[in-house]
Amino acid sequence: MERQSGGASKDGAVETERRRVLITGCSSGFGLLTAVQAAGSGFDVVATVRNPVRADALRRALDARGLDAKIDTLDVTDSEHIRRIADRYEPIDVLVNNAGILINGSFADLSERELRDVFETNYFGAVALTRAVAGPMLRRRRGRIINVASLAGSVGYPYCSAYAASKAALIAFTQSIRVELAPFGIDVVSVEPGFHKTQIIGSNARPADRFDDPDSPLASYGRSSLRALAGDLLPWAGSPEKVARRIVRLMSVRRPRTRYVLGTDARLAAAFRWLGLAGAMERLFIRRIERAHRRTP
Ligand SMILES: NC(=O)c1ccc[n+]([C@@H]2O[C@H](COP(=O)([O-])OP(=O)(O)OC[C@H]3O[C@@H](n4cnc5c(N)ncnc54)[C@H](OP(=O)(O)O)[C@@H]3O)[C@@H](O)[C@H]2O)c1
Repeated sequence: MERQSGGASKDGAVETERRRVLITGCSSGFGLLTAVQAAGSGFDVVATVRNPVRADALRRALDARGLDAKIDTLDVTDSEHIRRIADRYEPIDVLVNNAGILINGSFADLSERELRDVFETNYFGAVALTRAVAGPMLRRRRGRIINVASLAGSVGYPYCSAYAASKAALIAFTQSIRVELAPFGIDVVSVEPGFHKTQIIGSNARPADRFDDPDSPLASYGRSSLRALAGDLLPWAGSPEKVARRIVRLMSVRRPRTRYVLGTDARLAAAFRWLGLAGAMERLFIRRIERAHRRTP
């Protein structure tokens, strides 16, 4: 089946003919919005959710716009799910590795299980699905993989080190396999949003089991600084719809770059680093954390 018309709009986007897009983590946030916007842009969308009982918001959002998408179950930490989904929906033109989790807490307070859980979803899950989907893409000599990383993956984020490290790994994975896959006509990009109001900083944010541990010298710093930084960053928080729009555009843009930094805070952080001011930014963070801690009763 011919999937690209080959025509290009004036902004360089290739016109699409029901190309198939597989998206992970569509029960809320960027995943849900990307699925809806991609369906609205004419893609054949396979929107996957970890838990089928959490697919209602997605269904409602699609129905409200009279849009259609295939909704299926995919826990990216389950190799059986991955194999079944990759087989069932082959060939996939665009894969969006969006599923992610965040566990708050100092590096010293995270259990090894919590540390590994974050990597299982944010890194190993994305890698496993990419490996499953890449085979048919290599045979067809075309495809696109969009990895939803994070600003935290390039600048770090205190008391979210497992999350930041998993996203750094995802960015390095993207940069490495982008070169491996380029000769086969497969593009790989990372999207690196800053702070955006979705469930990952709301009901899906999970505190480490030792987050409130009175015996931890770092736990009270973690609590006060996360509260303070979230308060500071909230006014800068970007619109998740914009991120989804950007991801959908990236599904079709002719020559995508390697990395896309999204959101005002993320662009500001990138500018600081470009100007050689990363140290100054770090000192600001440290001062802010100390001030917030002193003010905590
Ligand atoms: N919002 C931000 O500020 C921000 C910034 C940078 C990057 N990101 C990244 O953006 C991506 C989407 O997050 P979001 O902000 O839209 O938050 P969200 O609303 O919490 O969405 C996260 C999605 O991932 C799903 N998920 C979690 N574990 C999964 C697993 N094992 N298998 C499949 N799906 C799983 C969740 O499903 P359940 O409903 O089952 O939990 C949910 O659908 C994440 O990778 C996140 O790290 C977010």
